[in-house]
Amino acid sequence: MSACCALTLALTFYACQKKNQSATCSTCHPLADSMMVVSARREASEVGLQIMLDGGNAFDAAIAVHFALAVVYPQAGNIGGGGFMIAHTQYGENICLDFRETAPMAAHEKMYLHPDGTVQQRASLLGGLACGVPGSVHGMFELHRKYGSKSWYELLQPAIHWAENGFVLTSLDVEEINAVRHELDSINGMNVFTSRRWKEGDTLRQPDLARTLILIAHNPSCFYKGAIADTLIAAVNNSGGILQKDDLLAYRSVWRKPIEISFLNYRIITMPPPGSGGLALAQILSWLEMTHVQNYKHHSASYIQLIAELEKRAYADRSMFLGDPDFIQIPLSELLSKEYLSNRLEMFPVHQVTPSTSILPGEISFHEHEQTTHFSIVDAFGNAVSLTTTINSAYGSRLIVNGAGFIMNNEMDDFSVKPGEKNQFGLLGGKANRIQANKRMLSSMTPVVVLKDNNPVMVIGSPGGATIITTVLQNLLNVLVFNMGMQQSVNQPRFHHQWMPDVLFLEPAWEEWAVLVDSLRRMGYTIQFRSPIGRVSAIVKTPGGKWEGGADTRGDNVACGR
Ligand code: DON
Repeated sequence: MSACCALTLALTFYACQKKNQSATCSTCHPLADSMMVVSARREASEVGLQIMLDGGNAFDAAIAVHFALAVVYPQAGNIGGGGFMIAHTQYGENICLDFRETAPMAAHEKMYLHPDGTVQQRASLLGGLACGVPGSVHGMFELHRKYGSKSWYELLQPAIHWAENGFVLTSLDVEEINAVRHELDSINGMNVFTSRRWKEGDTLRQPDLARTLILIAHNPSCFYKGAIADTLIAAVNNSGGILQKDDLLAYRSVWRKPIEISFLNYRIITMPPPGSGGLALAQILSWLEMTHVQNYKHHSASYIQLIAELEKRAYADRSMFLGDPDFIQIPLSELLSKEYLSNRLEMFPVHQVTPSTSILPGEISFHEHEQTTHFSIVDAFGNAVSLTTTINSAYGSRLIVNGAGFIMNNEMDDFSVKPGEKNQFGLLGGKANRIQANKRMLSSMTPVVVLKDNNPVMVIGSPGGATIITTVLQNLLNVLVFNMGMQQSVNQPRFHHQWMPDVLFLEPAWEEWAVLVDSLRRMGYTIQFRSPIGRVSAIVKTPGGKWEGGADTRGDNVACGR
């Protein structure tokens, strides 16, 4: 694309944002005939839609949205992190791209332990030692190589525009910067995010990041070798890290075979290991089919109990069996077999509340201010893209690569830093997810595409650490079993159980359902109210054949369709 054309595109986005900063921009419709993007930010959703209106496909849009989010949603959008993509192509293939971070070559099992074996508090969360080798730029370039139709350079222009000209901060942005202001300052000194006391409506410009994105637009490999790589290694190691040139040179994203299961009349396509969400989702949905979930009343005490009990069993298996499939053997087909799943149902009567301590993983022979971000895209050609990307915590390791303006992940905390030790999401890790050089850390990210008669009918995913899996599950059930529209589903209150701790977590909205909460307590659940769970970006095909977006008001998510 010519520079002039790129500029026109950028100006369209900017004009749209200026015209309407808080309400619906004229390009954004949550009901569409042929194409739609739902993401955590209006600017990014508009970018994706515009790319498709200009003839690009959903993969082009995904690349442009991913880079745009690195600018306009720096708490989670990234180039210093990694992610997962599940997609269905117009040619009928179901595909999966794993661009998850890896442990540096110098990483080892005891790297976060004191000599006496105790865990060094927060070492896997803050600063250079917390950083995995980033996969996002490699992943996006690999996606472009195989499925892109527009020029790479063109797809980066909107992100560069937003970095140079700035974007307007929402109240949530300001709250999220303020929550980490102290750590951003202590790790980086003076920095772009804390250079002033931000208020809602202020414009945040990121000139360093703009220069980095321009370099990537001209030559993405400079992220892994050359100018950006050198700056990145210096920043991480000056902050206590162990990154080497060879770590970046060796990084590869990986095409994997998605997990596919049938559920009622649908085909669910989701993430295999090193994601844990796909397996957990597949197990729970299979159990729900066996227990005839469609006969339950939505959000009755017995419905919540059934799901919570199944969640406990799936999370127990997660902790035991799952890790990077390139390092450990995972008995995936056994864990998903009818025999294993029905035995496990018989062993644990799901209609009673079983204390988590008496639920062990099945036998087979052989917490945070949560930030990550998900976007869903469908195009007019028949492609559907579900992509979750993360730097783990909000603002990741809080380390900003000096002079390059991007934030590094703290994904190392997703490993079990010591067997039996909890990570920031309270998830218990086992040996399968222990730290090893070059290994990918286990993830809960659960991008999903749902097919009916081999055509996409739903695209969904969410951030939320351990709660991603249960958030996606509940929305699948709301839509596929209880026939809700996408926005109606996203607006429903959410609950969550992850086996350990043995607590049923409820969003604040449930406080109004006192009778129900009381019944759950009487059944034996320990209830804890917590902050909102997940920020879903999802799309569903309506009975009338339109695409309906579900944009979570727990965040600033926006659906833009045509
Ligand atoms: O990959 C994972 O499971 C985590 N790093 C995801 C972190 C996350 O979702 C944070 N919250 N919203």
